[in-house]
Amino acid sequence: MKKSQIAFCALLALCAAGRVHSAPADVEARVEATLARLTFDEKLGQLWQFSGGQPSEAASSDRSKGTLDPKFLEAVSAGRYGSVIGKRGLENYNAIQRAAMDGIGIPLLIGHDMIHSATTTYPIPLALACAWDESLWERTASAIAVETLALGCNWTFTPMLDVALDARWGRIAEGGGCEPLVTGLMGAAMVRGFQGADMSDGFHIAACAKHYVTYGASFGGRDYNAVEMADSTLRDVYLPPFKMAVDAGVATVMPAFHSYNGVPCSMNSYLLRDILRKELGFDGMTISDWSAVRELLNHGVAGNKADAAVLALNAGIDMEMVSDCYVTTLKAAVDSGRVSMKTIDDAVRNVLRVKYRLGLFDRPTLDAAALANAIDPAANRALARECARKSCVLLKNDDGALPLKKGVKVALLGDLAANEWQMLGCWSTRDLSNFANATLLAGLKADGVDVNYVEAYTLTGRVDLAAVEAAACGADIVVAAFGDYWENSGEGNSSAILELKGDQMKVAEKVKSLGKPLVAVVFGGRPMAFPDLAKTADAILMAWNPGGCGGWGLADVLTGLAEPWGRLTVDMPYATGTCPLYYSRTTTGRPAAITANHPFGHRYTSCYNDAPFVALYPFGYGLMYTTVEYSGEKAVVEGDSVAFSADVTNTGAREANELVQVYVRDEVARIARPRRELKGFKRVALRPGETKRVEIKVPVASLGYTVDGRYAVEPGGFSAWIAPDSDSGRNLHFEISAK
Ligand code: BGC
Repeated sequence: MKKSQIAFCALLALCAAGRVHSAPADVEARVEATLARLTFDEKLGQLWQFSGGQPSEAASSDRSKGTLDPKFLEAVSAGRYGSVIGKRGLENYNAIQRAAMDGIGIPLLIGHDMIHSATTTYPIPLALACAWDESLWERTASAIAVETLALGCNWTFTPMLDVALDARWGRIAEGGGCEPLVTGLMGAAMVRGFQGADMSDGFHIAACAKHYVTYGASFGGRDYNAVEMADSTLRDVYLPPFKMAVDAGVATVMPAFHSYNGVPCSMNSYLLRDILRKELGFDGMTISDWSAVRELLNHGVAGNKADAAVLALNAGIDMEMVSDCYVTTLKAAVDSGRVSMKTIDDAVRNVLRVKYRLGLFDRPTLDAAALANAIDPAANRALARECARKSCVLLKNDDGALPLKKGVKVALLGDLAANEWQMLGCWSTRDLSNFANATLLAGLKADGVDVNYVEAYTLTGRVDLAAVEAAACGADIVVAAFGDYWENSGEGNSSAILELKGDQMKVAEKVKSLGKPLVAVVFGGRPMAFPDLAKTADAILMAWNPGGCGGWGLADVLTGLAEPWGRLTVDMPYATGTCPLYYSRTTTGRPAAITANHPFGHRYTSCYNDAPFVALYPFGYGLMYTTVEYSGEKAVVEGDSVAFSADVTNTGAREANELVQVYVRDEVARIARPRRELKGFKRVALRPGETKRVEIKVPVASLGYTVDGRYAVEPGGFSAWIAPDSDSGRNLHFEISAK
């Protein structure tokens, strides 16, 4: 397949920013010169990421201040490792790089998962995605980059670009949600933030696009599980975010753990060589996931470590993370001709290229003072608060329950409302000294709210309904924390039950039985199924895992100091059994409709007989404290693009920040197409009463799909919606004519 045929070419046209220029002109010559002087064993060393060599804890409870084992430093000097994983602190980083430069003369890549946190903790990626804000994503990654260096790492294993349609999959927390365009724009912005315009400037780090590819589609939402998928779906849904990250200049790519159409991604040369290298033009380095080369034995495709190493390296995995199949077996594989010397050399070239691009040879050690100077903890906390404000999504707000009125007495309930640790999220720093006491309770107090906190219940355990009643009776309004603990999402945390656990609904019902308005603040690292809470609560704010300044940001929205900004990038289900659930589903031959007589859809149409097949809250959805109306919607083909426009009016009394979204459907195609696909979006600020004409241009080239191995835009009729979410809007029609 030619590059021009790749489905996502047009998505890229929507991605404003260009490639990161980080490669000095002489990189290739220096790579060759370095390669030429290496022994075979030294080459193998470059292909290994070692997980040992952690500082001893004896010196301090802070491991980064512990000392390194001299034997480890000797091995570094001897070139036994191309990379190590884990934070060891800046001084230890410098000790490692000095040992490397004094010895083999090749600095190490030192990587760690700085996903939404290095020192400061920002909301989880799924939450950040709900901000739909490229500048925020880039600024956050850039702030994490500097803190990462200060902790002694020059490489992060993020962004996670797995389109995730299934809320059962715990790793949905780590990415942008169910939409390729949003995931790709966020990923590219994060790559720009981590790597900067010049990755070697001493203030940026290497990024890693992962998990390549289709990991988010694992059967049953069960982590590490197999994926079977049509090539067209791979190309139209799962590859576009990776293409966008590669075009943004991402330095490294990590293949996923699972098997794709029977072939594990760690030995999948179709994905790694044919697509990633040849079609996408990626010239950086690939690294396996944690011991994933060794796991080829568990997949049942390699009989021993030697087979695993041969399969992975020949397929295009340059560096092996943690397991030691490469270093222990590749010598014999070369001797027996199972692996060519050129394959080894090419992998080493890829590793060295990233090291040169990162400037490690020219600046192997870090400048502690310069980094300390570049880090402004107060500014980072302000950014984390902004992120928390912009990531939460207002799902319900009956009778203006929110914002909290000035002077009202608030009863704040639930263990999560006063628990700083629970604001964090699956990849946050665990170093409590970096936290800022940003619970919801602290945030509300800081924003001047008259708040009485009573724990009264924990999410999964004990509930004291008498305490709920006493607190509610003494207040004008109840704000209560619901949802799930962050430890239940993220890697290795697939869930078969997304409904609210424990006695949470008893709390909601008790409050309502007392006639008090109930504001539910729902925490969690994934979409959850809470139709009963949606009926009972007067207002619902989806808080996700809002990060180390989370409570402050949430309080700003609850009090109205900030307007609600977030919009869902996933669909919220009615019931676990309806997952995977995503707005871009196909209509089927028997489209179902929800009506008064058939609240779940009519029998013999594509629905369930015991729960709605649609979303409780759909992709794109999120309320503000004001209302808007759309009128005069138009879709006009203008040469190579379609101009979508509408008058958007703020019909309420507060400021609006409307997220205008454009969805398109190919009306008659050669294969069944999604009922809607997001093609563009724009944020528009409106004063009360103000109307603005909003125009969003979408390239015609983005309206196609892949069939029979070819991406094409087919002439004919298209439906379009210019709308505030993926379920609403007036149906427009436009025609694409044959060229
Ligand atoms: C995860 C990766 C992560 C790696 C290193 C693996 O278990 O799947 O996402 O980057 O560990 O920590």
